[in-house]
Parts: sequence; structure tokens; C-alpha cells
Amino acid sequence: MHVAPESRGDKPSIYNLLLKQLDELYMQETDRVANLSNTAALLKTTFNWWWVGFYLVKKDELILGPFQGPVACTRIAFGKGVCGTAWERGSSILVPDVHQFEGHIACSAASNSELVVPIIKNGEVVAVIDADSEHFDHFDSQDKHGMEAIASLIAQKVF
Ligand code: SME
Repeated sequence: MHVAPESRGDKPSIYNLLLKQLDELYMQETDRVANLSNTAALLKTTFNWWWVGFYLVKKDELILGPFQGPVACTRIAFGKGVCGTAWERGSSILVPDVHQFEGHIACSAASNSELVVPIIKNGEVVAVIDADSEHFDHFDSQDKHGMEAIASLIAQKVF
């Protein structure tokens, strides 16, 4: 299952392969926590990001879901931080330097750039995927498109 980015070509093809692998995983299992857990594991082992995981919409806040990486904040309010803002906007946010994002919530001092992509089911944000890197400007538009495709698959197959 593991995809070594260096050995599998360019980013779009890595994301295409990931989509196939995730689709296969979701066909074998219906439990949401199990599927989100393996998704976080697959993303972490593929890209080796500092932190990657899910925050799930529960009533009026986001609550930490399955993730890979260091201990993180457990609750984020609507409109707060990068995650709460992506929820409010219903669209992805690419942050090249988190220190320049007003209201950024620093779960870890080591994080310098971030990509947050909402998972939208029937027009409603049901969760967000958050990826953090210790490098500045780590995520690009290819990551944004790739993660949006993954978010859409998750909306269809996991929620
Ligand atoms: N930085 C995020 C909080 C979540 S952690 O990075 C895992 C934010 O500003 O919403």
C-alpha cells in the first residue's frame, strides 16, 4: 500500500494512486472511524507531513478525529483558526506561512505551513482534513486539488 513519492512520479499521479488505494479501502470497510484512521495513516506514510488528520463537525464546533502526528487541539469553534475558517467558508485554505494567518491556532510550534480542505456532504461541511508541515510554503495547488479530490471521495464513501 505504501507509495514512496520519490519513486512514483509527479504529484498528480501520486494523488491518483492514493485515490485508487482509498477507494479500495472504503470498499472493504464501512466503519467511519476505521476508514478515516487508515486515510490519515496513508497520507502520513505517503507524504511524511508533520501532522495530518480530521476534525469532525459536531454541533457548533469541530472535534478532533483520527490523525497521525503529535497531540493536537481537540476543539475548534466555527470561524476560528484555519480549520474553523475553512468550515465557515466551505472552501479550502492554503497557508504558506501560518504565522501570517490571523487567528491561526498553533497546536504545535513546529508547524509553519498548512492546508485545510473541507469535506462537503449534501452542501454541508461535515469535517475538514488538516495537513501541517514544519516547512514553510510546503503545500501547492497540486496538493490542494489532490486533497480536494480525496475530500470528495470521503464525502461520497465515508459520510
Ligand atoms: N492550525 C489549525 C489547528 C489544528 S492543528 O494544526 C492540528 C488551525 O489554525 O485551525
